[in-house]
Amino acid sequence: MKHNAMKRVTAVANQKGGVGKTTTSINLAASLAALEKRVLLIDVDPQGNATTGLGIEKKAVNQGSYEILINATPLEDAMLPTSCEGLMLVPASMDLAGAEVELVGVKGRERVLEQALASYDGAPFDYVFIDCPPALNLITLNAFTASDRVLITLQAEFYAMEGLTQLMDTIRRVRGSLNPQLDMDGILLTMVDRRNNLSVQVEEEVRNYFGAQVYDASIPRNVRLSEAPSFGVPVMYHDIRSSGAQAYLQVAQEMIRRG
Ligand SMILES: Nc1ncnc2c1ncn2[C@@H]1O[C@H](COP(=O)(O)OP(=O)(O)OP(=O)(O)O)[C@@H](O)[C@H]1O
Ligand SMILES: [Mg+2]
Repeated sequence: MKHNAMKRVTAVANQKGGVGKTTTSINLAASLAALEKRVLLIDVDPQGNATTGLGIEKKAVNQGSYEILINATPLEDAMLPTSCEGLMLVPASMDLAGAEVELVGVKGRERVLEQALASYDGAPFDYVFIDCPPALNLITLNAFTASDRVLITLQAEFYAMEGLTQLMDTIRRVRGSLNPQLDMDGILLTMVDRRNNLSVQVEEEVRNYFGAQVYDASIPRNVRLSEAPSFGVPVMYHDIRSSGAQAYLQVAQEMIRRG
């Protein structure tokens, strides 16, 4: 545990785009909140998809992750309640797109987010998730440095493992310098299509290769998951019986069980 008021901080990462990082951040966070955990989701992706997906308009955000990274705004001031009880959000504001460049000139530029989390002494959280951008950049390094763990989402398709060596190397380097406590949380397979041989094969291959690191539960391809963000709610508030909602609840339970 890196931060007193935050039992478990998990960066959700993969520099590959469109592999289910944001969908996982939103729906895993909401599922844990539904299981009566206190959860915080921090959106550090300039695309701001986690923010919009939780029904908050980026343009209306005055204080968010940009202000934390660049203006030393305290975490507490950048936190918003969401429509899900127990789930708070640090949104991405429009300015976040410039943060990557602005951070370069900041002293201790890889540790800004870590410092912000360390200074937080408000009501404690059981789980904190950081939704990373699809890049191994300074923002992602800030997330890795501030985290206890990294959860990697992998889309079950042919190129699933592409770039994984580079991602693992980055995690190893962060562990060797900025954050010795950083652990792998695990690998979550997303967009699995059981009717597609290739998808099934890829899932098998990933499980053989990474063994127990892979979550037993995987996320099926499910249209409800892609619809929910347009309603600004996690999938469980859009269609609780959908396979997507049920799968993320399973992952949440597995995460609790794994400890
Ligand atoms: N299990 C799923 N079934 C169907 N659609 C999904 C599923 N998971 C994600 N999607 C859709 O796929 C797209 C990419 O997912 P998502 O935004 O979660 O990926 P990401 O890794 O966060 O992307 P980026 O790298 O751009 O941040 C989105 O349109 C999302 O709605
Ligand atoms: Mg995303």
